[in-house]
Amino acid sequence: MSATGSVEFDVKDIGLAKQGKQRIEWAEREMPVLRLIRERFAEEKPLNGTKLVACAHITTETANLARALQAGGAEAILIASNPLSTQDDVAASLVSDWGIPVYAIKGESTETYNRHVRTALDSHPEIIIDDGSDVVATLIKERGDQVKELVGSTEETTTGIQRLKAMEIAGVLTFPTIAVNDAQTKHFFDNRYGTGQSTLDGIIRATNILLAGRNLVVVGYGWCGKGVALRARGMGANVIVTEIDAIKAVEAVMDGFRVMPIAEAAAIGDIFVTVTGNRHVIDGDHFARMKDGAIVCNSGHFDLELNLVALRGMAADPVTMRPFVEEYKVKATGRRIVVLGEGRLINLAAAEGHPASVMDMSFANQALSVEYLVKNKGKLAPGVHLLPPEVDTEIASLKLQALGISIDTLTAEQIEYISSWETGT
Ligand SMILES: NC(=O)c1ccc[n+]([C@@H]2O[C@H](COP(=O)([O-])OP(=O)(O)OC[C@H]3O[C@@H](n4cnc5c(N)ncnc54)[C@H](O)[C@@H]3O)[C@@H](O)[C@H]2O)c1
Repeated sequence: MSATGSVEFDVKDIGLAKQGKQRIEWAEREMPVLRLIRERFAEEKPLNGTKLVACAHITTETANLARALQAGGAEAILIASNPLSTQDDVAASLVSDWGIPVYAIKGESTETYNRHVRTALDSHPEIIIDDGSDVVATLIKERGDQVKELVGSTEETTTGIQRLKAMEIAGVLTFPTIAVNDAQTKHFFDNRYGTGQSTLDGIIRATNILLAGRNLVVVGYGWCGKGVALRARGMGANVIVTEIDAIKAVEAVMDGFRVMPIAEAAAIGDIFVTVTGNRHVIDGDHFARMKDGAIVCNSGHFDLELNLVALRGMAADPVTMRPFVEEYKVKATGRRIVVLGEGRLINLAAAEGHPASVMDMSFANQALSVEYLVKNKGKLAPGVHLLPPEVDTEIASLKLQALGISIDTLTAEQIEYISSWETGT
């Protein structure tokens, strides 16, 4: 750990800043909604002096969120929400060009990752922006006396909200938290179209394989799964869906996909993508059935969707074929199974995460959620909250405005009609 001026940081190479700055500015062009928010924040300073920790994938888009928070007057510290997702040049530029403390190195060990979480908590944040709820969970588990200093937190992803709801039930969530993921302008777009495109981007960059004509198995038909299935079909893959929820499974059937249990799909899939937020959805039994050369990856939040412990137990030591591509030879059958990105989020490990125009909406939600928490300090009950629906609509309207698209408004006659019950057949 070292310091430039008064800024503490732990990044790979501060010399990468120039390239990082260019890429941050490139992403900014695709983030018009966040830019508008940043410009307003710069004038109004709604976050003046607020101590904030943001745990996020350290990408060009996150850098633009950090710039908006800083413009609003927040004193933000950034840490990685995943050991493999950091873009080292972006981390360097945030420190060197914007004076923002960043603790994130691509490929950092779990120990370093946890040390960074604790270093960030040493700053006694009033707001936590979390992605997967590791910071909030560490605060509750290890720093009980600090919890009262927190105004609130925001949560970026489905898995994090699942954990927060479990904390609420356990009675340990004693502050308000905003479920950013549950805003419509977040999960309809980021989880579906963002994950849909960037997951395939990660698979292709890691392997350079052709998707057309392959059997691609999507495990989980939630928002992310729908996006991956839709885009994979668009590239000519034969998509198979596996689910545990009957409604989602019927939806997948009606959307035109083959649906079957994973035990069956395991034997015919060429490529497998897990997006469930659940544990061991591809397990040892499934690896045992796979074809020679099957490619397996995960785009769900944590690296426990694939049971790699079981695979390691069944196979010889893996051989690294290319960056983010490890081949395991199953001892009993001699068949090879290819695991991408160590089972971590493939779109962030092997590609660059979501395109900026999608993150524009997700991070507009983050910035406005932080402002909402600060404005309503002491007024919100502990627990998981949604952002008010009018904020969702405002973000969608700003996006349309930025795209140069206008839509219709209800006429007075229509307003009267839809709010009355008298007129029928
Ligand atoms: N890669 C990314 O950039 C990215 C972006 C957003 C969300 N995420 C993460 O992706 C995961 C999924 O998010 P989502 O928004 O799609 O959640 P979701 O709740 O909408 O969908 C998850 C789906 O998985 C299904 N499922 C659960 N266990 C299963 C099993 N054993 N087999 C088959 N299906 C199973 C559920 O029924 C559900 O339909 C979460 O961990 C989330 O945090 C990743």
